[in-house]
Amino acid sequence: MNLLITGGTGYIGSHTVVELLKLGHDVAIVDNLANSSTQVLPRIEQITGLSPRFIEADICDRAAMDKVFSENAIDAVIHFAGLKAVGESNDIPLSYYHNNVSGTVTLLEVMAEHKVKNIVFSSSATVYGENNQSPLVETMPTSATNPYGQTKLMIEHILFDLAKSDPEWSIACLRYFNPIGAHESGLIGENPNGIPNNLLPYVAQVAVGRLAQLQIFGDDYDTIDGTGVRDYIHVVDLALGHVKALESLDKIDGCQAINLGTGNGTSVLQIVEQFKQTAERDIPYQIAPRRAGDIATVFANAELANNLLGWQAERGLVEMITDTWRWQSQNPNGFE
Ligand code: NAD
Ligand code: UD1
Repeated sequence: MNLLITGGTGYIGSHTVVELLKLGHDVAIVDNLANSSTQVLPRIEQITGLSPRFIEADICDRAAMDKVFSENAIDAVIHFAGLKAVGESNDIPLSYYHNNVSGTVTLLEVMAEHKVKNIVFSSSATVYGENNQSPLVETMPTSATNPYGQTKLMIEHILFDLAKSDPEWSIACLRYFNPIGAHESGLIGENPNGIPNNLLPYVAQVAVGRLAQLQIFGDDYDTIDGTGVRDYIHVVDLALGHVKALESLDKIDGCQAINLGTGNGTSVLQIVEQFKQTAERDIPYQIAPRRAGDIATVFANAELANNLLGWQAERGLVEMITDTWRWQSQNPNGFE
């Protein structure tokens, strides 16, 4: 297939591009480099022996997007481009609504003009809000507690309405749980700007000596050891979920939300313990107050992805942490 990957130089995008190139797809990336670097491109080439086309452009820039669709044959889009930091979204909500929501509307309008009506969208388990009990099922009510989550929810609504209005659209909204890990080569991985917000990059930077100690946000939750439980999924499994979603778009009627998770929960302390064993490094930590907006336990019901896409996560926690550590220890300063 001829594919356009927005946000394709980012963390999940770059891993997905690798899997798509390996399968012989033609890949063009559009990214404005807001949270990534072109240094990932030679790494992708090193892994696959192939290079995707790279176009530096903003999805909000209608003329640039029109040019992309005029100059490239495109059968389907995987839409990763977006801002994703929850805390930052509280401080600069308009940037999040503009970039994520308006940017997606612009992308969809240009796609419609060029009669490209197949899209896989990066949604998030954040759309389940605070009031559902795990395992989370796609049919549960959705809500959001911060501007980032609102943008994901709004885009889902836009995509559902679009599919309802025109049966030619085939849309998969993939609700990711917690992507971690890196490519087994150690050549590509997550490269957050500044101090990481998410657990795994934080732990990895403590292990490598860039950060002094982890703050564990709460040890009094009603969980196995009092710390928060999440459904961590290997980024390569997630990438393969996108491949399956693309291959299944013709089976999807309109717009379909699909969880991509493992169905298993792991606590913060279990992550720390596994990381210590894998990296053979101490991970100093301190118990801190709960983080606003966190809930005790989040994990997926992953049956729909299995039934509809024929996909399930294959990589376990040890592999996720081994690959995170390989990436972090071989690239202590990311791509720099
Ligand atoms: P990332 O920041 O590494 O990748 C996103 C990419 O989009 C970056 O390369 C960035 O430069 C680009 N981008 C942002 N705004 C753009 C714009 N206006 N035009 C063009 N490019 C733009 O993030 P990621 O972790 O790879 O996440 C990819 C997608 O998955 C995002 O939409 C994110 O919200 C969603 N998601 C991520 C997680 C997670 O934990 N990583 C969980 C759920 C959902
Ligand atoms: C967070 C976001 C969510 C987003 C997801 C993936 C919040 C409230 N939620 O989810 O919207 O979709 O990232 O990008 O920010 N933890 C620590 N210390 C740390 C970091 C995290 O103890 O320094 C704990 C958290 O309290 C949580 C677990 O580790 O229990 C995982 O946290 P994180 O990686 O931030 O993911 P989520 O909270 O699931």
